[in-house]
Formats: sequence, C-alpha cells, structure tokens
Amino acid sequence: MISRCMLRRPVLGAIALVVLFTWLLYRPDTSVQEISLLEHRYPLLFQRVHTNSATGGAWYIPPGWTNETDPIPESIVDAAEQASRAASSTAERHIPYSAIPLIVHQTWKNTRVDTWPHEIRQSTERWLRVVDGQMAYFLWDDEGIAEFIRRFEPGLEEQFYALPSHVEQSDVFRVLVSKWFGGIYADIDTEPLQSPAAWITRADIAPWQDRETGHVYNFTNPVQGIVGLEADCPPDSDIYWRMGYLLPTQLTQWAFAWAPGHPVLQTFIDHLFGELQTVSDHHAGELQSKTTQMELQGMDPISLTGPVAFTYSVQSWLGATTGLRWNALSGLQDGGRSKLVADVLVLPITGFSPGRGKYGNMGSKPITDPSARLLHRAQGSWRAFNLRVEYGKFCRTVFGRCRYWSKVPKGLLL
Ligand SMILES: *[C@@H]1O[C@H](CO)[C@@H](O)[C@H](O)[C@H]1NC(C)=O
Ligand SMILES: *[C@@H]1O[C@H](CO)[C@@H](O)[C@H](O)[C@H]1NC(C)=O
Repeated sequence: MISRCMLRRPVLGAIALVVLFTWLLYRPDTSVQEISLLEHRYPLLFQRVHTNSATGGAWYIPPGWTNETDPIPESIVDAAEQASRAASSTAERHIPYSAIPLIVHQTWKNTRVDTWPHEIRQSTERWLRVVDGQMAYFLWDDEGIAEFIRRFEPGLEEQFYALPSHVEQSDVFRVLVSKWFGGIYADIDTEPLQSPAAWITRADIAPWQDRETGHVYNFTNPVQGIVGLEADCPPDSDIYWRMGYLLPTQLTQWAFAWAPGHPVLQTFIDHLFGELQTVSDHHAGELQSKTTQMELQGMDPISLTGPVAFTYSVQSWLGATTGLRWNALSGLQDGGRSKLVADVLVLPITGFSPGRGKYGNMGSKPITDPSARLLHRAQGSWRAFNLRVEYGKFCRTVFGRCRYWSKVPKGLLL
C-alpha cells in the first residue's frame, strides 16, 4: 500500500508538467494581440514612435517643411537641426506674436510604446495629434540626449552626467534643448488642451499694471519665452510652504516655450554649473568622487535643477532687465491674466496647471477655460515613497510646522 501511495506523486507531477507545457505551447499569443490593440488605439504613436528604428528617439517633421534636396536625417540630432532650420525660414512656423518655433520636445527612456504606462501613451498620442501637419515633434530617449550633449555641449558633459539622478538630467536637458533649438518643451505626462499655435492671443500681450507700484508694463516686441505659474499664493501667508512650495510665486518647468538662445536659459545653466563647481570644490574638484556624489544627493532637486532653480533664473533675468517686482505676477487679484514682461510671457496658473481641486486651488480654473493650455497629470509620481519625506509633508499641511524638514530622502525608507 505504501509503495502505491509513493508512486502516485511523481505521476501527478508528470501530468501537471504535460499540462503546463501544452498550455505554454498553445496559449494565445498575447503580445501580437497587444500590439494590434496598440496600433488601433494609438495610431499616431504606433506609426511615429513605436515602429521607429532610428537611434536617439523618434521624430516627426511636417511634409511641407522639407524638400527633395534635404537629406533624410540619420539621427535625432540631425533631424532637430533640420527642423530648426526649416522653422526659422518662415514666420508661419512660429507661435503667433512670437519668435518661438513650432517644435515640440518631449523625453522618455525609450520608444518601446508597448512598455509604456497607459496614461503616457494617451497623452503622447494627443500631442502627436495637435502636432500633425503643423509642427515638428521630437521624442528624445537617453541615447538621443547623450548624442545631443556630445555634439552641442561637450564642455558640460562631465557635469551633466555627474547630476545624481535622471530627474535632474531631464530638468537640465529641457533647458539645453530649448537653448539650441527653441520650441515647446512639455513633460511626457502632460496633455495639450489646445494647440501651442494658439497659446498666445492678442489679449495675452496687452499692457498691464502692477497694482502695488502703479508701474505699467507695455511691450510690443515679439514674445521669446512662455512660462506658467505653478504656485500662486499670498507672499505674507504660510500657505505656500505648507503646500510644499519654496516660493509663493513659483514657475513650473513641466512645460515652457522658448525662442532659441534666450538669455534666461544661459542664466539657468551658468547658475547650475556654478553650484556644481562649488560642491566639487568641497571635494578637491572631483565631481565623480563618492563624497561629491553624496553631497549632491543630499541637495533638493527642486532647488538644484527643478522649478525653484528655474524660477530663480527667470526672476533674476527679468529683475535685471525690467526691475520687475516678482510678486506682481500673481493672478490672485486680477482674475488670472497673462503678463508680458520684456519678451517673456507669464501665464496665470490656469495656463499650465488648470483644473486644480478646491484645496490649494490658487486661482486655477477648470480645464475647459480658454486660458488653459495644457494639463499636467501625474504630479510628482517620480518620487519614491519615503517615510521621512511624507512625515514632513503631513506635518506642514496639517500642523503648519516642519517648514525646514528635509524634502530629500536620506535612505530607502527614511
Ligand atoms: C530645399 O531646401 C533647401 C534648404 O533646406 C533650400 O536651400 C532649397 O532652396 C529648397 N528647394 C526648394 C525647391 O524649395
Ligand atoms: C503702449 O505702447 C504703445 C506703443 O509704444 C502705445 O501706442 C500705447 O499707447 C501704450 N499703451 C499704454 C497703456 O501705455
């Protein structure tokens, strides 16, 4: 009896194995199904990004922008140069009232759309739809970014790759690509609510007045930069820092638009590389050393390369050229109007951050408002969950304390 019992087990095991192999051999081919679903649901993304075989990313240049004598670009950098040349040849290839070329830049790790999260497929498909036939489009992957840096900023390559994370490199790349080619930069998780070709209306560039000083800002030159408010809070209250902003009037850098070579962009770069120099000087000039890296990792990316660093460059350049009182940009008192300062158009919070909830609304109107240009989806989702950082957030929001609690994780969880 015992021996029969012991025999049964290997037999059952063998049967299970046969069943498993049969299933593996004859199961439906899900990947083929998935790909055809992808093609059906995201036709432009499939055609322009997924099936692309070039290196460095994917791109689209409207047929009317090139002619037979133009060589077919071999890399994304060649393509961007070609589009930039084509755009500069005629005013129709610029955002109206501006010198900003109708070229959209985005970045993502790769062009394998089947590996992308659903939300990003959808938002990129929307971008490709507004771009279609009207604008050039560039999706830069890591290799494309590396090639761009080698070709255009070889002197900054070491510093660029010494930045402690992908997030910071991406922050800097958007500034560099704007400096060299100009155009519209938008994070991959943003969705256009209108075409960038409609981003500037006559009303946006009308004269406006600083209510506190009475100074009238009246510029008639073409716009060379578009930025949007991310935070708009009364400067003398604690609201902004309780919500996690470092400045009461803070700009976003998930979207902006520039004419190539705008001095604000160089201001950002000079400031950042000055900071990196200071840090490396603490460690015998060794950027790559472990101790330099540790110091850099301890710095808040928001201030080093993110929205705060970006806000400071715009603020210092506009302050120096026009004497702008920074908080005059607030839209809280005037129903959220756009403000042209020198050649930079500052959009109210609804411009790039519409549809905010009741809590922390800051004057943000619904996404259907005519002043809403684009929607930002997964805010801050790139941050890994970290107990210490979360505690600080909770303490600021609920108790109004912990203002200077670190926003940077020190370890994996704490
Ligand atoms: C084709 O493009 C090149 C440069 O992009 C330009 O010099 C040339 O005149 C164009 N030819 C035609 C026929 O438009
Ligand atoms: C703005 O400047 C233009 C031209 O320089 C002038 O015609 C206009 O009256 C000015 N508007 C205001 C409100 O100062």
